[in-house]
Amino acid sequence: MKLYLATTNAHKIVELESMLEDAGLGYEVHGADTLGGMPPVVEDQDTFTGNALKKARALAERLPEDGIALADDSGICIDAFDGAPGVYSARYAGEGASDEANLVKLISEMETVPDGQRGGRFVCRLAAVSATGQEAVFEGEIEGEILRERRGQNGFGYDPVFKPIGRNRTTAEMAPEEKAAISHRGRAMRAFTDWLSSFAQEL
Ligand code: IMP
Repeated sequence: MKLYLATTNAHKIVELESMLEDAGLGYEVHGADTLGGMPPVVEDQDTFTGNALKKARALAERLPEDGIALADDSGICIDAFDGAPGVYSARYAGEGASDEANLVKLISEMETVPDGQRGGRFVCRLAAVSATGQEAVFEGEIEGEILRERRGQNGFGYDPVFKPIGRNRTTAEMAPEEKAAISHRGRAMRAFTDWLSSFAQEL
């Protein structure tokens, strides 16, 4: 069985590949480029699950018969903003905005949010679609607090201001394995690898 990552986000590819390697499943892991690239997908669904499935289904069209397409849709949900930016996290500062522009906007929009009300969470949905048409979605979330200033150089996106509950450091101050052990993506990935083990036995 071969896994194909239905994303063009280099940061997600690094995290997903390393998590899959650590899981020790022994499957080949490929980028979408080995299938001619990630087909263009308009992420117009109003849920993470909807967008993740849309991306996985698009790449599944190109799968070899022993392939599974795996897509990640994720974002940050801020309590003080009723869960926004949520599915719009990648375009928070506008269509095509950089991670840097999105982070600058979040820090600025949260300037007036008082301490004690700065909670939020990272949310991840991983959608798996096999060449045989089987579909499954896996969930992972992590609760945290949004800091007023950046800390750390690791990770990507909103990591420099996201401090998980019960931790003293942001996810940008953590080593990749440490972030993966507690992160939204790590949790969803562990659910996926559990499913994959039983799915493989059915084949
Ligand atoms: P997507 O590619 O449409 O799923 O957008 C994901 C958005 O959420 C991007 O803006 C990312 O920066 C942000 N995001 C998702 N996961 C993480 C993470 O692990 N750390 C920081 N930001 C993240």
